[in-house]
Amino acid sequence: MYLGLDFGTSSVKGVLMDAKQKIVATASSPLKVSRPHPGWSEQNPDHWWKAANAVVASLRKQKPKAIAQVAGIGMSGQQHGATLLDKTGKVLRPCILWNDARSFEECKEILAACPNAMDITGNIPLAGFTAPKLMWVKKHEPKIFAQVSKVLLPKDYIRFRMTGTYGSDMSDASGTYWLDVAKRAWSDTMLAATHMRRDQMPELFEGTDATGQITPALAKAWGMPLRPVVAGGGGDNASAAVGIGAVKDGQALVSIGTSGVLFVSNDRYSPNAAQAVHAFCHAVPGTWHQMGVILSATASMEWLAGLLKTPAPKLTSALGGALTGPSTALFLPYLSGERTPVGDSQIRGAFIGLAHETDAKVMTHAVMDGVAFAFRDCLEALRAAGTDVKRVMAVGGGTHSALWLKIIATVLNVPVDLPVAGDVGGAFGGARMALMAATGADYKKVCTGPKVAKTILPEKKARAAYETAYQNYKKVYPAIKDIKQT
Ligand code: XUL
Repeated sequence: MYLGLDFGTSSVKGVLMDAKQKIVATASSPLKVSRPHPGWSEQNPDHWWKAANAVVASLRKQKPKAIAQVAGIGMSGQQHGATLLDKTGKVLRPCILWNDARSFEECKEILAACPNAMDITGNIPLAGFTAPKLMWVKKHEPKIFAQVSKVLLPKDYIRFRMTGTYGSDMSDASGTYWLDVAKRAWSDTMLAATHMRRDQMPELFEGTDATGQITPALAKAWGMPLRPVVAGGGGDNASAAVGIGAVKDGQALVSIGTSGVLFVSNDRYSPNAAQAVHAFCHAVPGTWHQMGVILSATASMEWLAGLLKTPAPKLTSALGGALTGPSTALFLPYLSGERTPVGDSQIRGAFIGLAHETDAKVMTHAVMDGVAFAFRDCLEALRAAGTDVKRVMAVGGGTHSALWLKIIATVLNVPVDLPVAGDVGGAFGGARMALMAATGADYKKVCTGPKVAKTILPEKKARAAYETAYQNYKKVYPAIKDIKQT
């Protein structure tokens, strides 16, 4: 048996998988984000640990015998978060998350200190990445900075709680801005440019490597007498790709989660930093990937749901299933800035075209369209990097809305495949990495594609109107980029 745990932003999800890759149980436990200042986004690492324990307890209750046979654990995690530990392993401050916008000045300082940073990391420095966050802590919380003995990514903090060891995997480490992504090794140049040291970094592994075993005490507490090995695991998007078998050159996925990601697997390192395309290592050996990342996908819908005091599924289902064309309003989903293609952590969202008759339905539809347009921007940035996308597989919570998938297929103008188990992507990828770490199985054999539940085709009748709306969408950012209300 293998356990996959996905440390997302809004929940921890767990899947229990057998040796034939059949899911035997799933569980999840919710998480909250704290926003102590505009543009900030933090979580308490102890809440991840409590949620992980709740997930394991639920799986154990459902399948006590299966839990007792777990031989491997693999984790998928929200990327980039800075979890700071002192020399005793104590957490020094809340984790600064991937969608936190505070360290935009520090990004400029990195480029000034290290003009070839983009060659080494394959990416432009973005406030979401880990290195600029540490520079912010150095400047604003020097006493905390002085005590930093290790910097861990969210899932790697859980590895530390499970095994007592400090480790990370190549895909997640790529998002720190301290990795030489082509060489799959920490970069002393990037560390020095950001006032960090190699001894503050965890040891690097491939996602499919075994990084250690859970402690005897935890094995007892979780009812896992085999003391499972913990795989390197991966960033959540790379893990979702492992979960749906997107490990071959050109295979693509669209992840509609809190963030939105258009992900393509590459057999070589292929950067396009100019348009904020992320070029990262994949979670399987000798493989890389490119992603366009939008910061608020279902997060935009959750924001609207909060405002309208109506659950998001109710808002989206009120629109029905038929797609005739775009909303009369236009929405830019830049609630916490945007990564691809603009790389602007200071920009904020917008509604355009509001009228007296604008109601909840129009606004819901506009949010769905706006997220789809942001995905289209990612597609155009990937195309500019020489990567075309001919079809995508969709994963994440947003896939529950058939209409949203139809809008995305229409705006991207590619078929969207929906796998049979749409919502377990990262955790299932984690379970697969657990299997590979425990057995040494080859990723090319393990990472097969899932059964496709259905394929959503672009809506021909709505294509032209959506193309016009996308062209309008593209005009908005240049017009509003200098309007920054803080
Ligand atoms: C990727 C990114 C997000 C997070 C949260 O670069 O920041 O997708 O991993 O899920």
